[in-house]
Amino acid sequence: MKNSQYGVGIVGLGSYTPEKILTNQDLEKIVDTNDEWITTRTGIKQRHIAGEHETTSDMAIIAAERALKDAGKQAEDIDLIIVGTITPDMSFPATACIVQDKIGAVNAAAFDLQAGCSGFVYALAVGTQFIQTGVYRNVLIIGSDALSKVVNWEDRGTCILFGDGAGAAVISRLPEGEEGLLAFDLGARGSGAELLKLPAGGIRQPVTPEAIEQKLNTIHMAGNEVYKFAVRIMGEAAASALEKAGLTHEDLDFFVPHQANIRIIKAAAKRLKMPMEKVFVNVHKYGNTSAASVPIALDEAYQQNKVKKGDLIALVGFGAGLTWAASVLKWTKEEREDV
Ligand code: UT7
Repeated sequence: MKNSQYGVGIVGLGSYTPEKILTNQDLEKIVDTNDEWITTRTGIKQRHIAGEHETTSDMAIIAAERALKDAGKQAEDIDLIIVGTITPDMSFPATACIVQDKIGAVNAAAFDLQAGCSGFVYALAVGTQFIQTGVYRNVLIIGSDALSKVVNWEDRGTCILFGDGAGAAVISRLPEGEEGLLAFDLGARGSGAELLKLPAGGIRQPVTPEAIEQKLNTIHMAGNEVYKFAVRIMGEAAASALEKAGLTHEDLDFFVPHQANIRIIKAAAKRLKMPMEKVFVNVHKYGNTSAASVPIALDEAYQQNKVKKGDLIALVGFGAGLTWAASVLKWTKEEREDV
């Protein structure tokens, strides 16, 4: 970012998805759907599902430990932990505090950030400010969600879309003269709050037997409306972040979009004039993992050496709120030698 005091970069990445896999064929036995419909309408072939007792913090912890190892840092080095999630272990305390304790990040402040599927990129923007201003040196950003726990398994319009997982990034102050995270574009359109929501479980509607009966403790979504919003906002948010960094789409080497639906990803890539070879896609393997989607995708791209030092990358998320978040960054890590 222009006039920043300190450069900030991603120095470590890690991710985790649960062992259990639910395929489209498995779903055919649960709801009135079929592999062909799910594949052509969404691009999803399977998703990972958290175990009965596996929580959002459990997944976050594994992703965080992998990111710390990749960064070559100790938990004690971390000054702040931000967990982007809409499926916290409990309403409070923050899932980030549970992570802080279990990984032994004794010097870290910790809080959750709720911005739907935009949660990770939102958290990345927040964490970056603390390092840029010199307040902190190392921040752990996590996106972790277990939407399978709050999905209505009788609603074929939503239950086929979501999967569980976690992704984490360690961001740190870079050596003088280096720049990683260049610009962000964050936004919200609260007028669309009703389009994607979990009605019960908050103060307005507690989880009463009647609420459970009406499935109000599960995800409710106006799929078409969210789809239209997503197609427009993904391209706009990325373009706006690029502009803030003084760049254009022609400068971009790689695009890591929120993995919600292959049709949304393709439409956004087209708007950004990005050929699909430069767009990372893993929605077929995981479905929509909410706040975990962008960091899992970025970690996989990194594991596969798809991003090279010096590459200019755009990350874009959208989700409940409605919210959106885009980040433009220069990749500052060396290529992996073990690939
Ligand atoms: O992170 C943000 C989270 N949300 C999203 O990203 C969701 C964005 N929206 C979408 O991805 C798409 O809107 C969906 C994948 C959810 C739905 O795709 P669509 O092309 O918008 O389908 P539709 O809702 O318009 O439904 C078309 C038809 C309907 O049948 P009729 O009324 O035309 O007879 C649905 O009842 O497909 C039917 N349908 C299904 N059929 C088989 C809906 N879900 C299914 C299903 N299997 N799972």
